[in-house]
Amino acid sequence: MSEARIARPGPAANKIRWRECPDADAMATAVAAVIGEAIELAIAARGVAAIALSGGRTPYPAYRRLAELPLEWDRVIVLPSDDRLVAPGHPLSNVTAMRPIFEPLGAHVEPLDDLEPAQPNVILDPRAAGRAADQRLRDRLPWPLDFVLLGVGTDGHTASIFPGEDYDAALDLQTEVRVLGVTPDPLPPEAPVARVSFSLAAIVAARTVAVAVIGKDKRAVIDQAIAQGANSQFPIGRVLAAVLTPVDLYWAPE
Ligand code: 6PG
Repeated sequence: MSEARIARPGPAANKIRWRECPDADAMATAVAAVIGEAIELAIAARGVAAIALSGGRTPYPAYRRLAELPLEWDRVIVLPSDDRLVAPGHPLSNVTAMRPIFEPLGAHVEPLDDLEPAQPNVILDPRAAGRAADQRLRDRLPWPLDFVLLGVGTDGHTASIFPGEDYDAALDLQTEVRVLGVTPDPLPPEAPVARVSFSLAAIVAARTVAVAVIGKDKRAVIDQAIAQGANSQFPIGRVLAAVLTPVDLYWAPE
């Protein structure tokens, strides 16, 4: 990142555009369209598109819909917004879930961490893994990212920005760090492992940020997070307050 963008946390509410969809299928179509549009704009402007996509379960119908779009996939770099520190092929690996959707199209799917399958039992130092990922991607990625899609947990986490010993580092808007290792505390039950994640500074630097969530519980968390603003108790609130560009929040009922 050429200079740390000073994101003065502003009144997040005036930057958020709720995009309410009648159902999950309509949301998948809408999210696929907005990612496809960002890809086309990036390729037209710079010849390449680098996009970071959230893991979890919610966004995969949108990714499958996106894969149906007639885009110049050989000019697209797809990364997870964050990943669990598990070996490739592990059921918790986000990049492993993304590869079969995008690689057959000719897109380049780039892992955040460079774990080798031969290392399945290596006890990793998440911070060291994050530093290695940050350096490796600094040499390989066009910057800033063109598009980031974020999911949100019912605890208000987003990407792998979680409360814990790495929380302040993940939220530091003055940092040059783009990717860091994170040990959530507590470990989230759905994926109780350490992670690597794009930092808030990396997300804020992206040309476009969007969020996709399903269900009234997550909607309520996000509404509360927006109302709390820059000091929100929820990571998603801190992110939405810091992002300088308008954020489309795609939502569908259960
Ligand atoms: C991850 C994601 C994470 C996810 C939320 C929501 O690696 O887990 O990047 O931030 O988006 O946990 O996940 P669901 O969509 O499965 O509820």
